Amino acid sequence: MTNEQYYEFIQPYQNAGQMMYTRLEVLNKSLYSRNAASPIHNLQERIKSKKSIEKKLEKMNLSDSVQNAKDYLKDIAGLRVICYFIDDIFNLVNALKRQSELIVIKEKDYISHPKPNGYRSYHIILAVPVYYLDTMEYFPVEIQFRTMTMDLWASMEHRVCYKKMPEHRAELADAFLQYADILGKIEEQFEAYNETGMLEEIEHK
Ligand code: GTP
Ligand code: MG
Repeated sequence: MTNEQYYEFIQPYQNAGQMMYTRLEVLNKSLYSRNAASPIHNLQERIKSKKSIEKKLEKMNLSDSVQNAKDYLKDIAGLRVICYFIDDIFNLVNALKRQSELIVIKEKDYISHPKPNGYRSYHIILAVPVYYLDTMEYFPVEIQFRTMTMDLWASMEHRVCYKKMPEHRAELADAFLQYADILGKIEEQFEAYNETGMLEEIEHK
């Protein structure tokens, strides 16, 4: 993949990512309109770099062609949504699922089912329609929803464990399982401050 091919390739993904970003901004303002609280603490956007695309395709034993990137990588456009409370995550996910133009491609609930290493997050890949002069095509956007405590753990784990030599991995894995446990307890305490609750409950009031 040449630089020129890369920049041309990512353009529609950038558009799809921006559109999802805006949808989330709108939901952030409107989800709890009657409660004057916003679900999102922080919204991050990234496009996979050329180097990361090439590395991932190589890991999959595929050549680094534009076609392979398009066919096999669904996380070219990525958003990370950091929420205050766990209910905020499910309320946002459900609100997006009700938007009829969006198509769910893949969903992974690592909140209800954490990974063995302690990772927690809600992943959803949505296809977003991008309109051109006289055509329309769907492009995938990967969204990772986390609370602040989940994000603290995941960001540190990524930073600390990613490049470490195998001999340090076992102790680090133990340590991070403990951090996950401690942070999980802190999160439970924070959950008590949630006054918005599940949207269905609010709507019944
Ligand atoms: P990928 O090939 O990484 O896309 O794996 P996958 O298709 O099985 O997707 P999954 O939803 O499991 O993970 C996708 C992304 O979630 C990763 O690229 C990371 O950003 C994040 N993630 C998943 N597992 C971990 C983890 O153990 N630690 C951290 N820090 N991030 C993780
Ligand atoms: Mg991924």
